[in-house]
Formats: sequence, structure tokens, C-alpha cells
Amino acid sequence: AAQAPGPDPRPTYHFTPARNWLNDPNGLVYYEGEYHLFYQYNPHGDRWGHMSWGHAVSRDLVHWQELPVAIPETDVMAFSGSAVIDWKNSSGFGRDGKPAMVAIFTGHDPKAKNQSQYVAYSNDRGRTFTRYGKVLDIGSSEFRDPKVFWHEPTKRWVMVVLMAAENRAMIYTSPDLKQWQYASSFGPAGGRGRYWECPDLFELPVEGGAPGEKRWVLSINLGDNAVGGGSGGQYFVGDFDGTRFTPVPGWGSEPQWMDYGADFYAAISWNDLPKNDPRRIWIGWANDWRYAESIPTYPSRGAMSVPRTVALRKTAEGYRIAQAPVRELQALRGSKRETKVTLGETPVDLPIEGGAVELQVDLDTGTAEQVAIALTDGQGYQTLIGVNPTVNEVFIDRTRSGPYFHNGFANRHVAPVDLSGRKVSLRVLVDESIIELFINDGTQTITDRFFRGGGPLRWSVSARGGTASMNATAWPLSAR
Ligand code: FRU
Repeated sequence: AAQAPGPDPRPTYHFTPARNWLNDPNGLVYYEGEYHLFYQYNPHGDRWGHMSWGHAVSRDLVHWQELPVAIPETDVMAFSGSAVIDWKNSSGFGRDGKPAMVAIFTGHDPKAKNQSQYVAYSNDRGRTFTRYGKVLDIGSSEFRDPKVFWHEPTKRWVMVVLMAAENRAMIYTSPDLKQWQYASSFGPAGGRGRYWECPDLFELPVEGGAPGEKRWVLSINLGDNAVGGGSGGQYFVGDFDGTRFTPVPGWGSEPQWMDYGADFYAAISWNDLPKNDPRRIWIGWANDWRYAESIPTYPSRGAMSVPRTVALRKTAEGYRIAQAPVRELQALRGSKRETKVTLGETPVDLPIEGGAVELQVDLDTGTAEQVAIALTDGQGYQTLIGVNPTVNEVFIDRTRSGPYFHNGFANRHVAPVDLSGRKVSLRVLVDESIIELFINDGTQTITDRFFRGGGPLRWSVSARGGTASMNATAWPLSAR
């Protein structure tokens, strides 16, 4: 249903399709110089439906080229899933000595009330796929989102897939991507919701751990009931032996969140990064199921986060992930502006122009009770990015962020941060209607959409209840 063009400048360095609806990232895989980003896409409208795999490629993770739909809806909708390069041609789908790109996704059959795992393969770098068919059917209506990867120690494929309504992760293994053998299950555990969705499972070195220590991260998304109030992601840290995931002792009743905002969902990571790139990189859908179909953007509805590296650190609290925007984003920086100020009640304007910006802030909260960066539009709508040392909170407040469009939107999102030392660093990425906030070197993140009434954004900073000091560096970012 078309609606009048809204006050929504399209994000510049976040991926959005030219038109229509987008949700989860799917099939993230690297092959022959291209990062592939497939995604849940409705080719026929700007709300959820006719789910197919849309497709975009990039050579640097920051400039994306949208391509035609890769896996269309057929008798089943093509729900979320993953893609691998079958280097050893275990499936026999390779051609002319070249490996196939194999997509493993959930076929959603609304009539039969069935969700099963399907396989399709491509011999032309993901441009077109041939459907092989159904490979795993357990007679369930809520069985979805397979993440498949090659497990070198056991020399076989591993699939993590969810019994969504049971909040249970299932692990299957396969020699050839076609026959799948049940191995184990995990859950319910941690955060519960109506559905568990979009899992991932990968190994990371532990920064600050024992020499050579590595652990596995199992990430799982909650369709509702997450920390930002709606959909969001949690993770578990433990070990994986090719058959079973075992969380580290003591991990458990309290969920650990991937992000404290409302708009980082269904993140999955790239398979098959080049051998000389040790990073783990994931990307999430910058939206929340509560209001995703109502956000006031036109003619497309749905955006991705920036690609983020994921690291694992051993902290006093235990194992924690840390995220950072991929370094490739730095290539988008324009000329830098620096500000060093003492802050009080009177707002200080920041020398920032435009809605696509990176801002690095080092803050000493001094005697202040609150320090806030305000993004104010031409109509007085305002979004705050703030720090409150008295309650150890970093927050994004979008209660006055723009014209009303949904009951679930006008809220405030908080990350718990120890501010007893009064110092905090914030790396803020703003791209027209998206804020990604990386706190203290990515120890926590808050990702929130915000929408404007119109006019350019003005940036200012002030402190309440005392004085604070700030060093800020800002760069305009441009991917066009
Ligand atoms: C998550 C999700 C997945 C499903 C897809 C359908 O956002 O609900 O569980 O595969 O979206 O579009």
C-alpha cells in the first residue's frame, strides 16, 4: 500500500533496498571478492509478505549494489537461512571445477502449516539459484532459520536451527548438505519469548583469557520480550565439540544482550571470509517487530545496521562480546572537526552538518548529573544520546523523536555502564534515521531508529546539575 512520501531521507551508508519491505539478513557469505548480503524481502510491497531472498553485494562492506531477487517465493515462502561455499563439492552441486554457493533456508508453507529446511544452489556467484528441495522436515509449524557452517575438526557441516515456539536450538550435522542427522539440542535458557529466531554459532579467541583460549558464541534472537522492549538478541558463551553446545559454568539465568536498543535484530555473521581475514563480522536488521511495518519511510521499509566486528573478552563479570563498526567505514570519512569544551546548562552546538555522521566523544562527567547530546530537527523534534552517572546509565531517549506513528516507539533505551570513574567514550554513528551507539570500545551498544518531522538536524550538547568536559571528533560520512 503506497503512502505519501514521508520526511525520511534515505540512509546513505546503511543498506536499504530501493523499494519495498526488508527484514532479516540471510545467507551472508564471501566469495570471489564479493560480500553477499541476502535478506528477507517482499518484492511486491512495503509490508511483510511474499517472503523471498533479496540480494546485494559489496566489495568493501560499505558500498552495496542491489541485485535482482535471488530466491523467490514459490509454493513456499523463502524464510531466513544461511549460505556456504561448498569448497570440497560435498554436495555435488559444483560445476566446471568451481564450488557451488549453497543456500539453506526455511520453506514456510502457510497452507500445510509447515516449516522445513530447503536447499538451493548457485553456480553463478549467487545471481541465480536452482532449487534442490526439502532436506529436513520434522512436521513442525515453527522450525526455522538454519545457520550452517563447516566444522573443520569433525569435517562435516553443522546446522543450528530453532524450534522457535519451544525456545530450543537444535543441532544437526551433515556430510553433504542434503542428509541431516540430529545431534543435540540446547534450551530453553536465558531470555525467553514467544519465539526464538535466527541463531548463529561461531568460535572466537578470548581477549584477556588464558593463552590461546577460544570459546564459542551461540546467539539467539527473541521475537519479543527483549531488553529494548520488543525484539532483540541474546547470546551464550561456551564450548562446542561439533555435536553439542555447552555453556560455560554459571552462564545462565540472566540473559546477556547483544544490544540495548530496540533496533538491532536477527544479526548473523559472514561465512567464508578470506583466509587472511580473522574477523567475525555480523550485520543486523535495524528494526523492531513491534512497529516494523509502521515506520514512516517510503518507498522502502527496512534497513540493515552497519557490519560490525564481534570480539569476545574476558571481563570481571565474565565473558562478554564487544562490537565495533568494521574499519572499512573509515574510508567514508570526510574532513574532521574537533571540539573541546566544558559543558553546563547552556547547550553548545557541535560543528556537524548533515544527517550522516560519525562522532567520537570522550566524556568526563565531572559534577554533572546528566550529559546529553541532542539531535534536533527543523520542527523541534528531538532525540537524546545521554549519560547519567548518578544511576550508571547510558541511554538513547526518543520519546520526543518525531511525529507519532506507533504506540511502541516513543521510549528510552538504557545500557548499564559503570560510570563511577566519571569517564566514558561514545562512538556514535548517525545515518538519517538510525543511531548506532558504541559505548566504551563496543562493550555495549544501543541501536535505535528515530524519525524526523523535517528540516536539517542540529547537534548540541549540555550538562545538567554541574559541569562536565568533553572532547569530540566528528566526520561527515558519505557512501554515495
Ligand atoms: C525473524 C523472522 C524469522 C523468519 C523470518 C520471516 O525476523 O520471523 O524467524 O524466518 O523473519 O520473514
